[in-house]
Amino acid sequence: MREFAKAVESSKVPPGTMMTISVDGEDILIANVEGKFYGVGAICKHEQWDLSEGTLSDTTVTCAGHGTVWDLKTGKGIFDEPLANEPLYEIKEVEGFLFVRGR
Ligand code: FES
Repeated sequence: MREFAKAVESSKVPPGTMMTISVDGEDILIANVEGKFYGVGAICKHEQWDLSEGTLSDTTVTCAGHGTVWDLKTGKGIFDEPLANEPLYEIKEVEGFLFVRGR
């Protein structure tokens, strides 16, 4: 998606939490790290677990499936086999709502 699309109320993603939302057919993980929002593809490139079921720590998410550690800043996953990067999304907050678009 090239234009910003309305995703969710920002109050639904408080600091230290994350959630998966679907926008225009894309599943996007939105994570709130100390008030800064990050967006990456939500479906693990390993075996398609939903990353929102994993663990958020600083700017990484550890997949609940088999432990791939995904970097929210780069979209890269660290695992014992090469995995494609997760797509990155830009997020902006306007009047209490989060808007997303692909980078
Ligand atoms: S599904 Fe994410 S590590 Fe296997």
